[in-house]
Amino acid sequence: MRKEALSRISSGKAAAVVNADTTKKPHNYEFLSSEPESDLRLFTLGEGGYTQYFCFTNSSHGSTPVNLTTPSAATSAPDDSQQVDKSSERVKQMFGEIAPQYDRMNHLLSMNVDRWWRRITVRQMAPKPGDRILDVCTGTGDLALAFHRHLSGDCEVIGTDFCEEMLDYARKKPVASGKVTFSQADAQRLPFDDNSFDIVTVAFGLRNVEDTDLGLRELVRVCRPGGKIGILEFTTPRRWPIRPAYSWYFRNVLPIIGQRLAKNNMSAYDYLPQSVGEFPSYEALTDRMQQAGMATAEFRPLTFGIATLYTGSK
Ligand SMILES: C[S@@+](CC[C@H](N)C(=O)[O-])C[C@H]1O[C@@H](n2cnc3c(N)ncnc32)[C@H](O)[C@@H]1O
Repeated sequence: MRKEALSRISSGKAAAVVNADTTKKPHNYEFLSSEPESDLRLFTLGEGGYTQYFCFTNSSHGSTPVNLTTPSAATSAPDDSQQVDKSSERVKQMFGEIAPQYDRMNHLLSMNVDRWWRRITVRQMAPKPGDRILDVCTGTGDLALAFHRHLSGDCEVIGTDFCEEMLDYARKKPVASGKVTFSQADAQRLPFDDNSFDIVTVAFGLRNVEDTDLGLRELVRVCRPGGKIGILEFTTPRRWPIRPAYSWYFRNVLPIIGQRLAKNNMSAYDYLPQSVGEFPSYEALTDRMQQAGMATAEFRPLTFGIATLYTGSK
């Protein structure tokens, strides 16, 4: 289908449908390739169970999506039954169940690369002594503690999460000196004043928040003007052969290992690839960061695009 869609672009047939479809730019799209001469870009929508190919053309009316999926080639469109259950109750219970194994599983399944991703995040956010830093969906607190270590305790770091079981593990981790506080809070209703942090981060958490846009708006609201926002999240690599190899591992191997080692009733390690597949990535997420009020939004793929660091400023 991808080939067919590309050939429709290059043969100019896509142009015939440009005016036929002026629906809104879809949120969950993924950039596939660029055709600079025709000013068309090809996207696939959705990773989890359905695929439609779109291109965007830039016209005086803005960016218009054109659906290139022929009815015969289209796989079924998503319905609610195919979408992963991200209700707050489910997510909270799921992390509560896997909390005792969470750190071990993270390091094992990522072969310790997750530690490096968090260090990169801290470095890119470039915290300064005295900064007030908020790490939302902090879980077992690794990113919050990485900020604290980076500044040798010369900062105030607050980590919040709605799952007490995860926070219990964060609170048990050693802190040499200075102030790190872990408290319970829903990312969609942060109990902080507007403009009250220099840096606001979320690592592998936004994907799990029931209302992504509300979560993004809260990150922006509590960040001070000129402050920085960092979002570290899993993404699907785009390049061959990493993409198919990683997708196979992520969908077939990881859930089996995960479920065996971190036994839980909530299918946490089936949820992981499903939620990554459904989550907006790259251009789609940076668009939404700006819609939520960030003045700038950029992304930097890490480790072949298995994870991506999104950064923005208010
Ligand atoms: C995959 S863990 C990430 C933990 C940590 N940030 C890390 O880097 O390992 C996702 C965390 O997000 C939390 N979470 C999900 N939705 C939330 C929400 N609406 N409010 C607060 N925490 C939430 C979960 O409880 C869980 O601890």
